[in-house]
Amino acid sequence: MAVAIISNLFCFHTPTTQLRSSHLCSLLHSARFFRRASSAYSRAFLDTKSIDPVEVDKEVNRSRNSLACPICYDSLTWTSDPAFSIDSTPGSSLQCSTCKKTYVGREAYLDLTTANGAKSYGEPMPPSTELFRVPLVSFLYERGWRQAFIWGGFPGPEKEFELMKDFLKPVLGGNIIDASCASGLFSRLFAKSGLFSSVVALDYSENMLQQCYEFTKQEENFPKENFILIRADISRLPFLSSSVDAVHAGAAIHCWPSPSAAVAEISRVLRPGGVFVATTAIFDGPFSFVPFLRELRQNMRQVSGNYFSLSEREFEDLCRGCGLVRFSCIRNGPFVMFSASKPN
Ligand SMILES: C[S@@+](CC[C@H](N)C(=O)[O-])C[C@H]1O[C@@H](n2cnc3c(N)ncnc32)[C@H](O)[C@@H]1O
Repeated sequence: MAVAIISNLFCFHTPTTQLRSSHLCSLLHSARFFRRASSAYSRAFLDTKSIDPVEVDKEVNRSRNSLACPICYDSLTWTSDPAFSIDSTPGSSLQCSTCKKTYVGREAYLDLTTANGAKSYGEPMPPSTELFRVPLVSFLYERGWRQAFIWGGFPGPEKEFELMKDFLKPVLGGNIIDASCASGLFSRLFAKSGLFSSVVALDYSENMLQQCYEFTKQEENFPKENFILIRADISRLPFLSSSVDAVHAGAAIHCWPSPSAAVAEISRVLRPGGVFVATTAIFDGPFSFVPFLRELRQNMRQVSGNYFSLSEREFEDLCRGCGLVRFSCIRNGPFVMFSASKPN
C-alpha cells in the first residue's frame, strides 16, 4: 500500500513530465502484484505524448452552427435574433428544422432538454443528478462544497485548469463544451482565458446555471460574447454530430445516470481529432484486482446509483467502447484527470 501511495505521489505531474515519473514508478513497483496495478499508468503517460497537434480552423466559430434539437439531432434555426452571448439569451428562440419544436431562452439559459415545454409530465432523475438541482446545494457549490474536494486529491480549479490545458493543446482556438459545469467555475476560466472561440456552459440543474449566470454578472469585464448557458441532459446533447472541438467534464462522470450513454454522446458530437477531458475520483488500489472485490464494487454501484468506484482501467475501457482513442491520464491519489480523442 505504501508503495502505491508513493508511486501515486510521483505520478502527479503534467503529461509532458510524466514519462520520467513513470520510470520511477516502475522501479518502485518491484513486486509483480504492484507492477500490474501500475502498468496502466505508464502506458497512459506514453500515450499522451503521441497526441498530434490538430489544425483548428479559427475562422469558423462552431458555436454558431452546432446547436441541434435534442429530439431529432437536426440543426436548430433562430426564429429571433441569434443569441451568442448570455446577454441575448432571454426571449431568444430556436426551432428544429425537422420536428418544428420551439425552444425559448430563459433569463439565464437556453433549455434544450427533451421534456422542455411539457405541461404536466415530470420525470425525476437519479439522486446524483437531482441533488445538484436543490437551490441550497447550488448556492453552496462554489462556497465551500467544491473546495472540500481537496480531500479527494483534487488540486483545485486553477491547478486543474493548468493541467487540462496540456490535454487540450490540440484543440485550442476551437469551441468547447463545459459539460456538467455546475456554477461554471471552469466555464468562466475557459471564457476568460481567451483560448477558445466559444464556450458552452452546460448542466442539467437550473439552479446551478442560475448561479453561473450570477457569477458572470458579478465579474468585471467578463467576456460575454460567445459564451452561452445551456440546460441539457448529458445523455442527450443538443449539438450536431462532429461539430465540437473539446468537451470538458470536471468532477461529473460519477454523477451521471449512465456514463456509457454520456460518453457515447460526447463521442458523437466531437469532430475527428476532438478531445474529451474529464476529472473524477477513483478507488482502484491494488485490491481492485481481487475478483470478489470487483463484484462487490459493482453491486455497490447498483445500490448507490453512482460511479465513484470505477477504476482507471474501466474508464479506459469505457472510452474505447465509445469510439475514443489515445486514452491518457494523470493521478493524484483518488483524483484522476483523463483524456481521450475522436480518431482523425
Ligand atoms: C460535482 S458537480 C461538478 C461540477 C464542476 N464541473 C466541477 O468541476 O466542480 C456535478 C454536476 O453534474 C451535473 N449533472 C448530474 N447529472 C447530470 C446530467 N444527467 N446531465 C447533465 N449534468 C448532470 C450536476 O447538475 C452537477 O452540476
